[in-house]
Amino acid sequence: MDAQAVILVGGQGTRLRPLTHARPKPIVPLLNRPFLHYQLALLRQHGVTDIILSCSHRVDDIRAALGSGADAGVRLRYVAESEPLGTAGGVRNAADLASGRLVVLNGDVLTDADVGAVLRFHETRGSRTTIGLTPVDDPTQYGLVEADARGAIRRFLEKPKPHEITTNMVNAGVYVIEAELLRRIPADRPVSIEREFFPALLADGVPCFGVPLGGYWRDIGSPSAYREAQLDLLRGRVATQVTPAGTLRDGCWIGAGARIDAGAVLRGPAVIGTDVRVQAGARLGPLTVIGDGARIARGARIEGAILWERVEVGEGAVLRDCIVGAHAVIGAHVDAAPGVVLEAGAVVPDHTRLGR
Ligand code: GDD
Ligand code: MG
Repeated sequence: MDAQAVILVGGQGTRLRPLTHARPKPIVPLLNRPFLHYQLALLRQHGVTDIILSCSHRVDDIRAALGSGADAGVRLRYVAESEPLGTAGGVRNAADLASGRLVVLNGDVLTDADVGAVLRFHETRGSRTTIGLTPVDDPTQYGLVEADARGAIRRFLEKPKPHEITTNMVNAGVYVIEAELLRRIPADRPVSIEREFFPALLADGVPCFGVPLGGYWRDIGSPSAYREAQLDLLRGRVATQVTPAGTLRDGCWIGAGARIDAGAVLRGPAVIGTDVRVQAGARLGPLTVIGDGARIARGARIEGAILWERVEVGEGAVLRDCIVGAHAVIGAHVDAAPGVVLEAGAVVPDHTRLGR
């Protein structure tokens, strides 16, 4: 039987605030597409089209953005927890709709991992739970996984202290799990897959394997990671079938209805959304994403920045390496330093220096 997938999308997105005040993490835009589109496309590419979204809060926002999944060529179903059940509880809660072999994804990793290869590895090893692994510089933010040469997992340690680090290979939030194992997860309280379920499987001798994913991988759950992920997409470092809307000209995707004055300068790679208006003398890019309906006044300079929809940028404003939430109004000659993150609807008076 073909594998089904569960995507965990019930987290609070705390580390991605203030962006997640406006929109839950699974649907924050990457190159103006809701993030989950990238995961849905990846799963579909590997033949997994029956997908359950394990939601907790803000399920209505997620449903409004993704609907039935038909646009992405998949069948989406939603399960929602009334109280957060944790990462294992979230998978267990979805299990009523699932059987057999499950692909489970953390709903915040951008990856082009070969999911089919992970499924084949799981099969050939006779594994019951297989964890995709990826190397990182700082394992303290992740789940450290020690495995032997064949991939048999010896130890799982969530958010290790610096002195506990024995490997740079961590849990990539990509699993293959036999659905019947989910019966082990108690239903009456929150349970963590990382802190409780995996360690218990190891303690009980259930065959668990880890396999390096290869390819691109990044958890988008902080503002800097969220921005970097989009720069990587713009640079073509992520193999994905999701493309920005519009047409590609000189490295810039230009959305329908965009009006760019002749005297404006665009430098790719960049994405300009639909109905964007850019006045003469503005300089956009490289490595820039402008959301739909934005207004960029003359002389503005935007580089390395991510703007959500309908942002207004005043004359001569400078935005470098920053993120601007939807509907923000940036006054004339505002100067935003790298790393600045503006909440949706923010209003910045003329001549303000942000983060300097
Ligand atoms: N349904 C549901 N219910 N989903 C949840 C819940 C919950 O109570 N809590 C968290 N999630 C979802 C989040 O939305 C996210 O997609 C995923 O579970 C992981 O949660 P994070 O909060 O992003 O965890 P993390 O990034 O600190 O750590 C996890 O991911 C790392 C890789 O990025 C762990 O799995 C680590 O071991 C791993 O290395
Ligand atoms: Mg995460």
